[in-house]
Amino acid sequence: MSSSSQTSPLQVEQEARAEAETNPELYQHFANLVSSLPSSEGLSHNQFYRHDQGWYSGLVPIVGAMVADACFTARPSDIVVATLPKSGTTSIKSLLYATVHRREHHLATAADNHPLISVGPHGCIKFFEYQLYTRNRVPDLDKLPDPRLFATHLPFVSLPRTIATSGSKIVYVCRDPKDHLISQWDFANKLRVMNQLEPLSVETAAELFCAGLSPFGPYWDHVLGYWHAHLTRPQQVLFFRYEEMQKDPAAHVRRLAEFVGHPFGVGEEEDGVVDAIVRLCSFEHMSGLEVTKSGKTDLVIGTVENSSFFRRGVVGDWANHLSPETARRIDAITAAKFMGSGLVLASNGQ
Ligand code: A3P
Repeated sequence: MSSSSQTSPLQVEQEARAEAETNPELYQHFANLVSSLPSSEGLSHNQFYRHDQGWYSGLVPIVGAMVADACFTARPSDIVVATLPKSGTTSIKSLLYATVHRREHHLATAADNHPLISVGPHGCIKFFEYQLYTRNRVPDLDKLPDPRLFATHLPFVSLPRTIATSGSKIVYVCRDPKDHLISQWDFANKLRVMNQLEPLSVETAAELFCAGLSPFGPYWDHVLGYWHAHLTRPQQVLFFRYEEMQKDPAAHVRRLAEFVGHPFGVGEEEDGVVDAIVRLCSFEHMSGLEVTKSGKTDLVIGTVENSSFFRRGVVGDWANHLSPETARRIDAITAAKFMGSGLVLASNGQ
C-alpha cells in the first residue's frame, strides 16, 4: 500500500473548513424565512418542518440546504451521493471513495492509513446540510481538487441548483421502505434517548412513516424524485438499490466506476482490485474498525457515535419488527405511489 506524499483531498478540505468564512447574517436571513414553515411531530427527536417537497427533522438542515443553494458552485466533475437516511449511505460513500481514490490509496494491502480506516466514510465524504454548510460557516470548497465528492439527503428538487445545471454526477441509493423504516426507527430512538426523550414504539414510527413524516420524507416522493431524474438523465444520475448491492457488490462497484469515469483496467481486474474494494467496504470489515467502534461524527444535529451507522446490514430485517398487517399497508402505499413510474423495488422482485 502506498499513499501519495502530496496533500490529500481530505487535508485540503479540512484546511478549507478551518479557514471557512462565517456569515451569520446569511444564516439568519434563511432562518427568518423558514421560521413559519408548517410543522408536525415526526419520526425523529426533533420537530419536523415542511419545506419544498420534504419533511425535515429540525430547521437547521433546511437553513444549511438554503445556504448551500446560495453559495455552492458545482463542477461537472463533482460526484454527489444522494440517499434517504438509513438507505445505505455509509456503504455507498465507502465504495465511491475507495473507487475514486484507489490510485492514491492503493488497496491491495489495505493499510491502516487508508482514509476510510482512519477517519471513516462520513469523514471522507461530507453532507452539505449536516457537515459543510453548518454553524454559520461558508466553506471555500473551490480549493478542493477534482473530483470533489459530496453527500446529501436532500430531495432532488432541493439540491443546490448548480448541481443539476453543471452536469455533476449523482449516485442515488434506494432501499426497501420497510427496512428503511426499521433502520430509521432504531436510529431515531438512539437520538431520542440521547436527547432524554422516550423511544418511539414501532407502531408509532410506522404511522408517522406512512404519513410521510420521516426525515426527508415522504419516502416515496424522495425516491421518485431521483428515479425520474435518472430516467431523464441517465448519464448524470445513477440509481442503485441497496438490496441489489448486497447481492452483487462487485458488479455495482464496476458500474459505479464506469459511471464516474474511472473504469477498472484489465490489469486492475487481474490484480483483484474490485474484490479488494468490496472487502474493504463490507459491513463485516467496516463495522469492526476502531474508527467505527470508538469514533464519532460531528453532525449539525449532534455528535453521533460511528457505531450507530452500523446495525445489522441485512435485507428483510423488517420481518422481525413489523406486523404482517403494517407490512402489507406499506407495500400497498408503495405500489400505489410507484404505479406507472416503471420503478420496481429489488425486494419486490425477490
Ligand atoms: P440496518 O439498520 O438495517 O442494519 P445509512 O448509512 O444510510 O445511515 O444506513 C444505515 C444502514 O446501512 C444500516 O442498516 C446499516 O447497518 C447499514 N450499513 C452500514 N454500513 C454498511 C455496509 N458497509 N454495507 C451494507 N450495509 C451497511
